[in-house]
Amino acid sequence: MSQYANPEWPIRFNVPDYGDAEAEYARESLLGGGSTSANGQFSHKAVEILQAETGAAEVLLTTSCTAALELSAMLLDLGPGDTVIVPSFTFTSSALAFVRQGARILFCDIEPRTLGPDPASVAALLDDSVKAVVLVHYAGIACDVEGIREVLKDRPDVAVVEDNAHGLFGRWRGEPLGTLGRFATLSFHDTKNFICGEGGALVVSDTADVDRAWVHYDKGTDRQAFFLGQVDKYSWRDNGSSFGLADPLAAVLLAQLERRESIQSRRRAVHERYAAALAPNADELGLQLPVVPDDVEPAYHLFHVLLPEASMRRAVMSDLKRKGIESAFHYVPLHDSDGGERFAARPTECPVSIDVSSRLLRLPFHNSLTPDECDRVAETLLASVAGRRS
Ligand SMILES: Cc1ncc(COP(=O)(O)O)c(C=O)c1O
Repeated sequence: MSQYANPEWPIRFNVPDYGDAEAEYARESLLGGGSTSANGQFSHKAVEILQAETGAAEVLLTTSCTAALELSAMLLDLGPGDTVIVPSFTFTSSALAFVRQGARILFCDIEPRTLGPDPASVAALLDDSVKAVVLVHYAGIACDVEGIREVLKDRPDVAVVEDNAHGLFGRWRGEPLGTLGRFATLSFHDTKNFICGEGGALVVSDTADVDRAWVHYDKGTDRQAFFLGQVDKYSWRDNGSSFGLADPLAAVLLAQLERRESIQSRRRAVHERYAAALAPNADELGLQLPVVPDDVEPAYHLFHVLLPEASMRRAVMSDLKRKGIESAFHYVPLHDSDGGERFAARPTECPVSIDVSSRLLRLPFHNSLTPDECDRVAETLLASVAGRRS
């Protein structure tokens, strides 16, 4: 047993990591006399970083990833009779945004390696009603992008939307996650890698979508074209809503993005420490660790394990809690939920989603976890699983 400075010290699941720069920028935004609404000076700087990192045609900061997904759904012109393929194992927003635009959902299963959408399941659901497929890079590990591209190779009419809430700064075959489809969405909610309380972004790949994206973003008006001097007054043009992120929050986000290398390297260190501490005993205990394919650079959003038996999860979480360690699980499979049943185009089978959802356990994961704390979590988990195997 290793020695810890304070073995009883609680280890929280998530600790939002703000510093002086975040506070200074927010203060400057509030007191500096500039605009505090959307698209202020701090928003522009944050967008510049995101655009430079992704090479996107446009990035629009939104109030959340959910809002960005809704914006992407508006841009797809969905309507009654249209369907969108969404993995069952994801957050509600990945499906809800499209439902709000009048589409129905076809829930696909996930594949057990990356926990992203299973290309075979997508292929089985693909019919003429499908207008989009939503990709989720679970934990910031790219899904089987090649497999999905192969399934969609004869369907250029089907848009790929990456719900990249977990994957900012991750890569697949060297390409940034969030640049692999027509639209991608980001989350800056305070459980994510880069945070401003609540926030998000729509990443637009195709220049042909940019003008309409701004109109939907700006309450249905061509206000952006007016600011760019392209029209002499702005007026109501199309559908839309108020999606913009206020500048004081963009100021906080900018400070976070400016220290992206240090944030990502700290999260990578936590991931590697957990993996190294758990790997020697994982097989013998039937514990499955995250799989990082060779062509993937993870974004290090979260660390999950799959327990050998669903029935032990509650007890393992209690064992961790008794040692002061917070843990969590998710997602309740969407195809099996009340909302999913109500908004699905038809019932589908997603056995891997059900299995994974019942066995998945998330370990504490944040920027300030120390190596000793990671070891303490790993040791407690291993001891608990070993003691509770049937
Ligand atoms: C995959 C996924 N998509 C979307 C969201 C929603 O993000 P937000 O809270 O920024 O709307 C989450 C939230 O955790 C998520 O995990």
